[in-house]
Amino acid sequence: MIDAGMANQRGQWWRDAVIYQVYVRSFSDGTGDGVGDLPGITRRLTQLADLGVDAIWLTPFYPSPMADGGYDVADYRDVEPQFGTLADFDDLIARAHQLGLRVIVDIVPNHTSDRHAWFQAALAAGPGSPERARYLFRDGRGPDGAQPPADWMSNFGGPAWTRVADGQWYLHLFTPEQPDLDWSHPQVRAEFEAILRFWLDREVDGFRIDVAHGLSKNLVEPLTDLGAASVDKNLRYGLDDHPLWDRDDVHEIYRDWRKILDEYSPPRIAVAEAWVAPGRLGRYVRGDELHQAFNFQFLLTPWECGAFTEVIDESLAESAEVGAATTWVLSNHDVIRHATRYALPMQVDAAQWLLSDGTQPTIDAALGLRRARAATLLMMALPGSAYVYQGEELGLFEVPDLPRELLQDPTWHRSGHHDKGRDGCRVPIPWEPDGPSLGFGPGAPWLPQPQQWSAISHARQVDDPSSTLRLYSEALRLRRQFAGDGSLRWIEKGPHVLAFQRESGLACVVNFGPDDAALPAGEVLVASGPLTGAGRLPADTAAWIV
Ligand code: GLC
Repeated sequence: MIDAGMANQRGQWWRDAVIYQVYVRSFSDGTGDGVGDLPGITRRLTQLADLGVDAIWLTPFYPSPMADGGYDVADYRDVEPQFGTLADFDDLIARAHQLGLRVIVDIVPNHTSDRHAWFQAALAAGPGSPERARYLFRDGRGPDGAQPPADWMSNFGGPAWTRVADGQWYLHLFTPEQPDLDWSHPQVRAEFEAILRFWLDREVDGFRIDVAHGLSKNLVEPLTDLGAASVDKNLRYGLDDHPLWDRDDVHEIYRDWRKILDEYSPPRIAVAEAWVAPGRLGRYVRGDELHQAFNFQFLLTPWECGAFTEVIDESLAESAEVGAATTWVLSNHDVIRHATRYALPMQVDAAQWLLSDGTQPTIDAALGLRRARAATLLMMALPGSAYVYQGEELGLFEVPDLPRELLQDPTWHRSGHHDKGRDGCRVPIPWEPDGPSLGFGPGAPWLPQPQQWSAISHARQVDDPSSTLRLYSEALRLRRQFAGDGSLRWIEKGPHVLAFQRESGLACVVNFGPDDAALPAGEVLVASGPLTGAGRLPADTAAWIV
């Protein structure tokens, strides 16, 4: 048996870390305005330390008009007043470090808010000015320039170009309130390097890089029309040599950033949010680039044995090729929570929650949760790092029926109310069984919580050994105990059961099939659900054995 965290002993803590994503608006409201904030997070850090995670990732908390939940940053060196102050941030970091938790912050380099001083200056200065050169302004097409420069679509629906009063157009891959920066401009590069240092000097342990695959663009005229290939709702692009996504020279930026991260002691880390074609992710985690890149292929894998064995093999091979560790993830603030996703009927239009005949699907919540718990044991047994999205440790499900007038995700409005957007996975955390916001804060929360969340609140689960919360903490405890060097050996690869063993001796078995399955000999350390009376592994269940 190998003792706690060999990777940690080598100082490369991120290689097997469990990192907990805090979606700041919805984690804990310390001030009572119904919105989560930094003091609220600080107050709850002990619960995260008790859960056994190694680090937290904070989504953007910078001053923002909130056109995209804070991913529209107006000032990269301050705290949004709704979320607190820089002093609150310093308190949070100090408390986290005291508890042995590292802190990663989100950096949003692809675009600023339209209220950012640079964009305001660009609007005021006019066409051809140095102020405009930091963004992607172009003249329109057609005799009077009234047509956008290309047919590109934005990720949240609608055109990716918006026209300003003097007739020029600017590019925004997301909302019009999020103008894209021109990363070929030296001032843009220098500014973000300074922003990294600003937060590193405030003791952050690393960065999550938003839209990491989008910074470098090819806007050499004439621009190509892309039709449907310009955008994909999940930011996945298969097209080779795409002018907007996953361009080869984006990696130069990260090589420069790596040098900055390495200047600090101990070296700081960065994780890429890069929705790229299969086989392209490893490029972001080469030795002189970033440390981690979210494995979205894993997140997108349907609940099916063959699909999981394949994605595990491919992911491990891809990261091994560049000497990196794999970074598993099942949920985040942009996707349907996996406790719901694994129970969605195949034919459902996830954007609208409708079947093709226009009716609402019935979702078997118990099935979804059973699979989600099994998936978690699978993920936590794999070599590499894992990200946990707040609330998944409580078994929270997607909330599909929020009152329409409360929806805030720009996708909802920009899709002409076709796509309900991502608010359903952003509903505030239930900490307590009672109160106006189930312990999220003193007042009503910004999105209402389903009644059933009282019974699965943190307080209700913490003392219940069969709860999802306890499953997570037990898995994390055992994971530390059975840490290993990053490899696995397959014992079984389908058709219904997958099983592998880590070099520490820990075996993980997952049953995707309809029938009970036999377990290998050994002691069952933890299981995602009760075994059968005969000690067999039921359908949609996982177990760890030594
Ligand atoms: C990333 C974020 C998402 C945001 C988008 C634009 O995909 O995770 O929430 O809307 O970038 O910044």
